[in-house]
Amino acid sequence: MTTRKLFNNMEIPLIGMGTFGSDHVTPDEVAAAVYGAIGAGYRLIDCAAIYGNEDKIGEVFEKALTEGIVTRDELFVTSKVWNDMHGRGDVLLSCAKSLRDLRLDYIDMYFVHWPFPNYHAPGCDGDARNPDSRPFDKDEFMAVWRQMERLMYMGLVRSLGMSNMTIAKLEEVLPLCRIRPAAIEMELHPAFQQPELFDYCVHKSIQPIGFCPIGSPNRPERDKDESDVSAIEMPEIVTIAEAHGVHPAIVCLKWAVQRGQIPIPFSVKEEKYINNLICINEDPLTDEEMEQIAAADKKCRLIKGQVFLWEGAESWRDLWDGEV
Ligand SMILES: NC(=O)c1ccc[n+]([C@@H]2O[C@H](COP(=O)([O-])OP(=O)(O)OC[C@H]3O[C@@H](n4cnc5c(N)ncnc54)[C@H](OP(=O)(O)O)[C@@H]3O)[C@@H](O)[C@H]2O)c1
Repeated sequence: MTTRKLFNNMEIPLIGMGTFGSDHVTPDEVAAAVYGAIGAGYRLIDCAAIYGNEDKIGEVFEKALTEGIVTRDELFVTSKVWNDMHGRGDVLLSCAKSLRDLRLDYIDMYFVHWPFPNYHAPGCDGDARNPDSRPFDKDEFMAVWRQMERLMYMGLVRSLGMSNMTIAKLEEVLPLCRIRPAAIEMELHPAFQQPELFDYCVHKSIQPIGFCPIGSPNRPERDKDESDVSAIEMPEIVTIAEAHGVHPAIVCLKWAVQRGQIPIPFSVKEEKYINNLICINEDPLTDEEMEQIAAADKKCRLIKGQVFLWEGAESWRDLWDGEV
């Protein structure tokens, strides 16, 4: 597996496997796919406490390590602290639970999943609101980040990441970090390319990791809107896919890796996750095709986060500081 060097000299694989089974794939199915994916050559596995399957994934990590399919050094495992564990001392508890569930001694990169403590009941619909929700607050966020930094000092995690950030929020918090994030997880696919945030991160030597790289066609209903653009149905992507004789999903992944972000596609179907891994090493997109995709950006955010809105907020755009 080819890797890219982070600013802290850690090596991160060019592509990873997502593990969010959403409302339709069980933890056992996700874990079985992770085991198959490790056997197929995946080394980066993107986990999170809220996905509700870390205990099952931990079983297959242990199996793969015991069987000698992979060594711990070769794996790059991420996890994320969920929004309901931002309180004083809670980040350590959350990390300890993920470590126990994943059956690991350390996590390679630990993320703050969302930059505020707003959370929703599992499986709630898009109109659900939590009365405790509130806007982003720099001091609240930094109290969480200080706990994250302590996990580094304790050796429980090897690098830190942020997720679902905006340039405005990064401008506020980056100068205050004692340990800077090595990567930022953000929604990235041909219909939502976030060029400003992407360039901002690259300029600061922070690696962009792209979630929903295929446009998450099976995302939860609460995250679907009739104005959404499907990356794999964009005419520009379909035309390029036909020229290469591949599924449009494969074009999304080739584009992602060639642009410089790390995509973390999800599928529990062996043929799909194997193709997703192989495709990044063969038949690259031409410079012209890369330019066509850049010009086709629809600026269409799919994971709007509306369930995290607070009372008085006007639209999901308030979560993103007006940056689309
Ligand atoms: N940090 C965050 O806040 C955040 C938010 C969202 C997601 N994530 C992470 O990002 C990962 C990926 O996002 P996602 O799962 O929402 O979306 P995604 O990877 O863009 O899309 C997954 C869907 O694409 C389909 N697919 C995968 N490979 C394919 C192929 N080769 N050909 C055709 N279809 C293919 C799958 O179909 P099948 O169902 O048929 O397999 C699956 O339904 C998650 O699993 C999670 O780890 C992080």
